[in-house]
Amino acid sequence: MLKTGLLIGFICGIALFSACEHQPYVLPVSERTGDSALCFDRDLLPIFISQCAKSGCHDAGTHKKGYILDSYDNIIKKGIVPGNYAASRIYMSVTGTTEEMMPKGADNLTEEQITLIKRWIVKGAIKDNNCTPLCDSDNYVFSAGVQPIVNKYCTGCHSGSAPQGNLLLTSYSEIKGAVQSRNLIKCINYETGYPGMPNSGLHLSTCQIRQIEKWVSAGMLNN
Ligand code: HEC
Repeated sequence: MLKTGLLIGFICGIALFSACEHQPYVLPVSERTGDSALCFDRDLLPIFISQCAKSGCHDAGTHKKGYILDSYDNIIKKGIVPGNYAASRIYMSVTGTTEEMMPKGADNLTEEQITLIKRWIVKGAIKDNNCTPLCDSDNYVFSAGVQPIVNKYCTGCHSGSAPQGNLLLTSYSEIKGAVQSRNLIKCINYETGYPGMPNSGLHLSTCQIRQIEKWVSAGMLNN
């Protein structure tokens, strides 16, 4: 009798425990439509590469806390709950809702970048490849063509008090200087013998490279 009582108690305990165990909501695969205005490679990957996949942080070599944030397949493995940004540790860390605010030791992500990550998670965190490249190779004005590319793809690693490669790319004169004396053009073209940039195997599009090259050929104006 006592044994049966214990057994029943035990089974009830298990039932109660599993009922209480909190499973975060995950958007069903069939409802992961993606945000039609967003494209992972174009809009999200550059943020992850530049802000998170730095050496010493979340590149393949360092993978702090098991997070490698250098490609879609790696990013989606850990810390992203499709459809539920509030339960996604990566989202929590860039908004400061976990103990450690990320990126560590660098500026916080901008509101715009955080919103992009949120929108991407809400619609299922999918990798949509059918994206138009939003690029005009004839736009080689520094402020409208070149600097936005550098800000999006490069500045995360090349800013702050300990920039990667000991190179800052946060202003006109720093970017110009990197073309003149740090082989910036060879790096973005992934030429052999130079570190390919933006690093981690992510390439700028041919159109974006043309924008920067045309700006250089036209005399690197501060326009
Ligand atoms: C994920 C981090 C990261 C991103 C993003 C990144 N870089 Fe770098 N960059 C590095 C590291 C690390 C080095 C040092 C590499 C080395 O010396 O082998 C470096 C070095 C460089 C150098 C110096 C090369 C030399 O020969 O001295 C240039 C120029 C450069 N980066 C340009 C860029 C540009 C332009 C972008 C954006 C299109 C970019 N980087 C994005 C990490 C990054």
